[in-house]
Amino acid sequence: MPRTRGSAHNRTSGADWDRPVHVAEGGHFTVLLEEAVASLALREGGAYLDGTFGGGGHSRLILQHEPSVGALHVVDADPAAIARAEALAVEPVANGRLHIIHANFGDLADVAAEQTLPPFDGMLFDLGVSSFQLDEGDRGFSFRFDGPLDMRFDPTTGSSAADLVNALDAEDLAQIFWRYGDESRSRRIAAAIVTARQDGPITTTARLAGIVSDAVGGRQGRGTHPATKTFQALRIAVNRELEMLDRVLETSLDLLAPGGRLVVIAFHSLEDRIVKRFIERETATCICPPEQPFCTCDHQPRLKRLGKPVKPSDHELQINARSRSAIMRVAERLPDVTPDSQEEAE
Ligand SMILES: C[S@@+](CC[C@H](N)C(=O)[O-])C[C@H]1O[C@@H](n2cnc3c(N)ncnc32)[C@H](O)[C@@H]1O
Repeated sequence: MPRTRGSAHNRTSGADWDRPVHVAEGGHFTVLLEEAVASLALREGGAYLDGTFGGGGHSRLILQHEPSVGALHVVDADPAAIARAEALAVEPVANGRLHIIHANFGDLADVAAEQTLPPFDGMLFDLGVSSFQLDEGDRGFSFRFDGPLDMRFDPTTGSSAADLVNALDAEDLAQIFWRYGDESRSRRIAAAIVTARQDGPITTTARLAGIVSDAVGGRQGRGTHPATKTFQALRIAVNRELEMLDRVLETSLDLLAPGGRLVVIAFHSLEDRIVKRFIERETATCICPPEQPFCTCDHQPRLKRLGKPVKPSDHELQINARSRSAIMRVAERLPDVTPDSQEEAE
């Protein structure tokens, strides 16, 4: 467990009185806070990247670690998260070590081509949406508030959810709801959207939630809201989340130093499957098709898997129900095999 300094300790009650704080300003809980930071195996003077700054919970704990890390580069697509990072950068705990990058992590290869990044001793990705975003009605992520139907992590670029909902045909909308939301009533919802938009473009979360509820039947008692899957699917499509994840995993292999840690927290099976398969492939000594009787690929593993997937503790589940679907995977970058190193090994 990392040692921390500063005011990160939460004096609550009973056995948990000395646990680090999981809650940032605005009621945002950092998921798997200690577990993720411990998995980075922080070392003195090391260089780290937090690819999803969000509310900065993981970053703050990294900066509080003793002995001190040398540099922490933080990335977020959301200008509001970047503003929070700027506030953290001027706190004493940052001590000139926080470097802020406003970018999509899927573009990290381009960022690395434009500015010098150190070889990282650890890279952390805590995927998806933050409570700040969910609880801010104007961002349009949630049907709990009426707001503009936006859902972009970076509202300054790309197509919003309203753009997709009003432009795509029924088949494409149904594909999104089915593939990214596992929504079995995807066609019915898509057809209802196409009909409803004849009365005018769908521009608010409340109107979309209403259309979905009317199409599939309202919420029964305290059950899940009928628009939950539709909203998740749209968010994934708007931000091209799976594509960006694919890209950053690939890039991480170039940006990690030998021995550097890759830590990824996923929140749904689509994300976790990508992370799992990536680690499986990069830890394998052969990636030939299973039906092939002998290996021709000469594949060199670039990662070593560390431990089993980690899920939130009972304590965390109690204080933050939103953490229930989190799953963290950890791997370590292996040194590249060069002809020289291969010769030495033989
Ligand atoms: C779950 S929150 C991270 C919370 C953070 N670990 C903390 O301790 O507060 C995810 C953050 O990642 C950002 N994000 C998600 N996908 C991104 C991407 N492809 N590129 C950059 N930032 C992304 C979101 O804007 C959000 O702020």
